[in-house]
Amino acid sequence: MPSRSLMAANWKMFKTVGESTAYAKELCRRMESWHEEAPEQVICPTLPALYTVSRALSQSSVKIGAQSLDLGREGANTGAVSGYLIREAGAAYVIVGHSERRQLYGEDDELVAEKAASALASHLIPIICVGETESQRNAGETDPVVDRQVTRALQRLTGAATVVIAYEPLWAIGTGLVPDPSEANRVAGRIRDAVQKIRPETTTTVRILYGGSVNRGNIRDFACQPQLDGALVGGASLDVAHWLDLIKGWQEVRQ
Ligand code: 13P
Repeated sequence: MPSRSLMAANWKMFKTVGESTAYAKELCRRMESWHEEAPEQVICPTLPALYTVSRALSQSSVKIGAQSLDLGREGANTGAVSGYLIREAGAAYVIVGHSERRQLYGEDDELVAEKAASALASHLIPIICVGETESQRNAGETDPVVDRQVTRALQRLTGAATVVIAYEPLWAIGTGLVPDPSEANRVAGRIRDAVQKIRPETTTTVRILYGGSVNRGNIRDFACQPQLDGALVGGASLDVAHWLDLIKGWQEVRQ
């Protein structure tokens, strides 16, 4: 099992550059007395804010992530932002295959696999999102859906790759609903098995996060689950005090 937990904040399409930078500075200030045992933190701001947030956090242990990437390195691709450019702007991680990208922008398993490979080629760690819809859940299809998404997302990787997989049931995102934490634990265990089958070299480093309506009231319930290595947080990460409560809640349980 990987040793260090990971807490990732997905700010989605929220916060101006000014608001993002102010948050980053406030985070640094509040973390001054912290020690290294805390979970690794990754903040994923909007693209326009990525560089300034990374500069504001450069003296801290907090890492930066992008929320998506486009394929390739450089070229005549109007509107596209490659992993290479994201890395150069200060990111170490990138979210790949978030359900909002899959649903709103038509990203399918094949593109997710290409993006995961492209992220690694750009020296970014992909945070690959998987999860079932409400109707798939009601039809008892959670396991085959998640197995398929994981297997396809990793199909283009070679050798020992460092990846993070976030289990985000779609019906839990932004709804205030969460699965029973023991169910999230069970699915995370299944994800680990699927990774083991397709990329055995990767099993010792893969970290599996839970995402979907995580907040300061439920973080400890998820932190108790041994198959979970952290959380991917949307709404509750937008407020710096709430975010730090999540980090502390996770740390308290895992210490
Ligand atoms: P919420 O935490 O707002 O439910 O969002 C989860 C998510 O989509 C993180 O990627």
